[in-house]
Amino acid sequence: MYGPEFAADPHGVYDRLRVYGPLAPVEVAPGVGALLVLDYRAALDLLHDPVTWSKDSRVWQDTIPEDSPIRPMMSWRPNVFFSDGEAHTRYRQVITDSFDRIEPHVMRGHVQELADSLIARFGADGEADLISQYARVLPLLLFNRVFGLPDSYSDRLVSALSALFEANTPEEAAAGNAAFESYIGELAAAKKRERGADLTSWFMDHPAGLSDEEVIHQIVLTMGAGHEPTTNLIGNALARMLSDDRYYSTLSGGALTPRDAILDVLQNEPPISNYSAHFPTRDVLFHGTWIRKGQLVLVSYAAANTQHGRTAPGQGGGTGGSGGGAHLAWAAGPHSCPVHRPALLIATTAIERLTAWLSDIELRVAFDTLEWRNGPFHRALAELPARFTPIVPDQAGATPWKSSPSSSTPQAATSTARPTASAGSGQRPG
Ligand code: HEM
Repeated sequence: MYGPEFAADPHGVYDRLRVYGPLAPVEVAPGVGALLVLDYRAALDLLHDPVTWSKDSRVWQDTIPEDSPIRPMMSWRPNVFFSDGEAHTRYRQVITDSFDRIEPHVMRGHVQELADSLIARFGADGEADLISQYARVLPLLLFNRVFGLPDSYSDRLVSALSALFEANTPEEAAAGNAAFESYIGELAAAKKRERGADLTSWFMDHPAGLSDEEVIHQIVLTMGAGHEPTTNLIGNALARMLSDDRYYSTLSGGALTPRDAILDVLQNEPPISNYSAHFPTRDVLFHGTWIRKGQLVLVSYAAANTQHGRTAPGQGGGTGGSGGGAHLAWAAGPHSCPVHRPALLIATTAIERLTAWLSDIELRVAFDTLEWRNGPFHRALAELPARFTPIVPDQAGATPWKSSPSSSTPQAATSTARPTASAGSGQRPG
């Protein structure tokens, strides 16, 4: 599942794996085997049974080579992701309570402003890679802000994580990691000196009483867990919208909306496609397969969601305001994504903002030729080249260049600013 064949056609691989039944043997890194749950019912049974299934990877990781590329994603740390029971509840409460303190309209305002600042960087060029210039950067600018540092720090966070992300050698990865650690160290030190209305301060002052080290681990995990999937949700949904006329016509008041694209992605192409690493606490016969205590088992959200075929855009919605009906894109059970509502708001706002400003935006290459990044866990575009009629700064203050900090108060768009139909939202960009 780590090679180019899987990245090029994951659904073809899932279809072949289904001959094994609800669970299939897979290789997630060279020489590292796992069982992959493909069946929806089996996935739910696993995700809702924290007695049989543990998230603690410590015993398993000792069996994995030190230099295995899977280690960064799977090595135990004292955070919400790798803990069970009371420890897990304690960490998770800190994260959910703190995110709950950010009002949706405030979050939306942040995303609008930051989206505008990014669009301003490439708007005059008439073309952009919407992954590296937009979808990958926007969540980091947002995290920098909601975790409590001034916007002037955001470039440091972006370059540290880009170095980590694009590293070709262990040395480059180590340099990226060191830059990220130094950013987090400064963030924690600044908030220790002086609290603010931000996630870091709320993590620190939460009644759960986290130690300094625990606070840092939850910040790192939250940024790490939030960045990649939010990038992919924005990127995958944009790729669909910009390559399908049913969305394109939305820009002039037509059929499908950004929300339809997002639901389509959550259903058919989840941003995190396979994860929920679990280890049975005893030997167990699970949906017809004997699994040894401590063996790695992963859930394929993508395969489980599409077990009975894929849904067409506009039909995957179903119930529930948080991202559709029967799908596992946020996982399920005690470790399901605690931040799915804000994440949905962030992605929707990001897409609405972009398509509102660049109303004739389209792909520069055919959808079928887009390249997907290798890796067993994500469904991630390597790049998303797009073109559009350039927009230029205008004096009226209605373009992204002039977006005011209080962007919850919409400004009038002018003809020079071009957008009048915000795809699906019916609002002008503010
Ligand atoms: C602001 C953005 C986001 C933040 C801060 C965030 C944060 C988190 C955190 C802290 C966890 C661990 C929960 C636990 O172990 O109890 C988690 C889990 C998860 N999140 Fe999110 N998330 C974000 C966006 C997303 C998006 C866009 C998706 C995909 C649609 C997603 C999918 C998941 C999944 C599938 C899990 C379970 C992973 C596993 O257990 O292996 N998240 N998220």
